[in-house]
Amino acid sequence: MDRYLVFGHPVRHSKSPFIHTLFARQTQQELEYGLAEPAVDEFAHALRTFFDQGGKGCNVTVPFKEQAFTLVDCLSPRAKRAGAVNTIKLTDDGVLLGDNTDGAGLVADLKSHGVMLADSRILLLGAGGAARGALAPLLAELPSELVVTNRTHTKAQQLAAEFHDLGPVTAQTYEQLAGPFDLVINSTSASLQGELPPLAPVLIHTDIAIYDMMYGASDTAFISWAKQHGARQTMDGLGMLVEQAAEAFTVWRGIRPGTKQVLRELKRNLGVI
Ligand code: ATR
Repeated sequence: MDRYLVFGHPVRHSKSPFIHTLFARQTQQELEYGLAEPAVDEFAHALRTFFDQGGKGCNVTVPFKEQAFTLVDCLSPRAKRAGAVNTIKLTDDGVLLGDNTDGAGLVADLKSHGVMLADSRILLLGAGGAARGALAPLLAELPSELVVTNRTHTKAQQLAAEFHDLGPVTAQTYEQLAGPFDLVINSTSASLQGELPPLAPVLIHTDIAIYDMMYGASDTAFISWAKQHGARQTMDGLGMLVEQAAEAFTVWRGIRPGTKQVLRELKRNLGVI
């Protein structure tokens, strides 16, 4: 049976096996999908061993995405832009192809929620790996403006300069931000420490769409905060998780699974509904 897995550390709580098992059932594909948690300095060896032993493809998550970028034989254009790899496929020619489906997953999820991206003013919080992966797919939707803001301003400036050729992206400090924005995307890891990005509440209004790439069984700290300040449309990153997985499944199997039912089952599994 064709074997796939996700590499991460820690990875025990990953929902990827659950999601891909449902995709395989739905599309009647014969495959198994597992977990691998190598020590941080043993990822390269573990990856090689997996493919030497007949593995067909894998996902890569924190903290290995940048390392995976350097270990594959070739890169998709979107992985090259993202500077990170979250999906690897062993091609029929024996080549390890590195791809990145995170940004596509974000855009697919935003669209499934009916969020208009064309001609919109988008504010992206954070300038780390998650923000980098999102920039090109967001700019491809032709927003009128995409502002990147980050606690460490130089990192936002670097990102804006790097993606400037793809569209109207600028960097501003949190203090400089002037609304109205149509969509705010939180790509920071602030909520992992129970913190909030230092966004002025005045930027939140009733017609704004709020997206947090994080998710949990209950509202993230950022979503709770945005709701308190009047945001009516809030979305967490669970849909992005399922959509990036669907994109990876499509890369591997050449068949696109449906995501709605799988997202519902995942929510039930997490106790969200
Ligand atoms: P990821 O790959 O998930 O993007 P990362 O590359 O470590 O993770 O980036 C984390 C991002 O969250 C950074 O933009 C970081 O800001 P700094 O560049 O200033 O470190 C941002 N971040 C983390 N904690 C934050 C906090 N409490 N407030 C605001 N931004 C925060």
